[in-house]
Amino acid sequence: MQPDIVPCNQSETAEHQNDQYHCFPGLESRQPGCRRTDTDGSPFWRGRFLDLAVTPAVGAVTGGPTFREAHLIMEMFRNSGLVTSLDLVELNPFLNERGRTAVLQVDLVARLMGRRIIDRPTRSYKAMQEKLNIVPFVSVDHMMKLVLATGVERFLIELAAYIEEDFRRWESFDKTPRVASHSAEGVIELMPTSDGETYGFKYVNGHPKNTRSGRQTVTAFGVLADVGNGYPMLLTEMTILTALRTAAMSAVAAKYLAPKGARIMAMIGNGAQSEFQAIAFKAILGVDKLRLYDIDPSATARCQKNLAGMGFEIKACSSSQEAVEGAEIITTVTADKQNATILTDNMVGPGIHINAVGGDCPGKTELHHDILLRSDIFVEYPPQTRIEGEIQQLDPDHPVIELWQVIAGKALGRTGERQITLFDSVGFAIEDFSALRYVRDRLKETRLYEELDLLADPDEPRDLFGMILRAAKAAPVAAKAGAL
Ligand SMILES: NC(=O)c1ccc[n+]([C@@H]2O[C@H](COP(=O)([O-])OP(=O)(O)OC[C@H]3O[C@@H](n4cnc5c(N)ncnc54)[C@H](O)[C@@H]3O)[C@@H](O)[C@H]2O)c1
Repeated sequence: MQPDIVPCNQSETAEHQNDQYHCFPGLESRQPGCRRTDTDGSPFWRGRFLDLAVTPAVGAVTGGPTFREAHLIMEMFRNSGLVTSLDLVELNPFLNERGRTAVLQVDLVARLMGRRIIDRPTRSYKAMQEKLNIVPFVSVDHMMKLVLATGVERFLIELAAYIEEDFRRWESFDKTPRVASHSAEGVIELMPTSDGETYGFKYVNGHPKNTRSGRQTVTAFGVLADVGNGYPMLLTEMTILTALRTAAMSAVAAKYLAPKGARIMAMIGNGAQSEFQAIAFKAILGVDKLRLYDIDPSATARCQKNLAGMGFEIKACSSSQEAVEGAEIITTVTADKQNATILTDNMVGPGIHINAVGGDCPGKTELHHDILLRSDIFVEYPPQTRIEGEIQQLDPDHPVIELWQVIAGKALGRTGERQITLFDSVGFAIEDFSALRYVRDRLKETRLYEELDLLADPDEPRDLFGMILRAAKAAPVAAKAGAL
């Protein structure tokens, strides 16, 4: 297409000429994009594009042509065959915030020279800078590096602070019991929530027999998304992150519920979650004496070995009875797809805090029913805990206290020395939301992520099929193989 170009006097300002000339059909109603002056006989082009937010240093105006139109103009210049040289001028470098104009200039020149740069209609500078197809992805490798770079204790302390912050604003979240798909072997769950600005969900499974085939009982990944446009903002592994968030959550609960100054914890079940629990309790409460028990002594040995040199005094015990002797806090974190009795009533003396982590599915509990009757029971989200927690053994209206109310100062936590407190932990979506939020914030400083090409981003939002056709042109051999 040949541009409709009108000669004009170089001395006239573009503003004066706006009404007299038009350069390209369709653009004349906006600030015209270009002029040709021929006072000395040579073609001369003056371009005025875009709005101030986009090209701060070139005196552009609000309502000017869009990015897309600017690119089309460049394409027309190229097609006209008239362009022989080009001057690039920056009128006021002091206004050229973070080199935005330069970036645009490079793009437009590239387009003039035949490269296809722009692929979207007008969007804000911020959006321009973002690659809309890309979602930051935190792999297991990056998560481990993030944990190591941060330090496990610091990670847990900071994550606990995010959880507390979100529990204090509990009422601002959408809440629903997680969506569980049960099978004979385990469960697969989706855990969504939103605070109105950001949406998050986690995929998590629980398959207690998995360890026999070299797999983990629990694996997970999660997503954060922008509520405003629905675009995912983060995709991350959450197997490690779940262990960290579960431990941070347990320690936060214990901060409000455990006896003051408690330092001795029994931990029954010494599998994947166990070290994280121990470190969180040390970092957040100062627990430094552990009494470990697992039906599989090799699990206890591994846990003891992994925690060596971290400031714990550890005793490996030969029964759960032995483990709970003298303990001020009892953590049960076993995996078994049945109503087990990890703790019997006689094992729980007055003043104990129980952190019951392993019972988190219908038909999968750890505590004897009578312990529940003697305890003050604190839960995350009652509609979910009544289905999945220890309290599934109780009447549906058995009184429980929501932990967020304790954290927000609306309900009391531990009130007496002889009180038995029970945190009936099942894991709720808001904790994962906090963990995802924490990781997202940490990525800004650490950049420990990959750019995942996750979202189709066609030139025109509605031209999804056209994007495939253009890909066929770009890769004709592959397209031919697929008959496109
Ligand atoms: N509440 C939550 O937020 C949350 C989060 C993550 C995991 N979990 C649950 O925590 C549990 C543990 O998870 P994991 O990843 O550590 O599992 P895992 O399989 O790695 O470890 C479980 C350990 O429990 C031991 N065990 C089983 N029965 C026992 C018994 N009767 N007495 C003593 N030890 C016993 C096993 O030998 C194993 O070492 C699972 O049930 C899981 O669903 C809960």
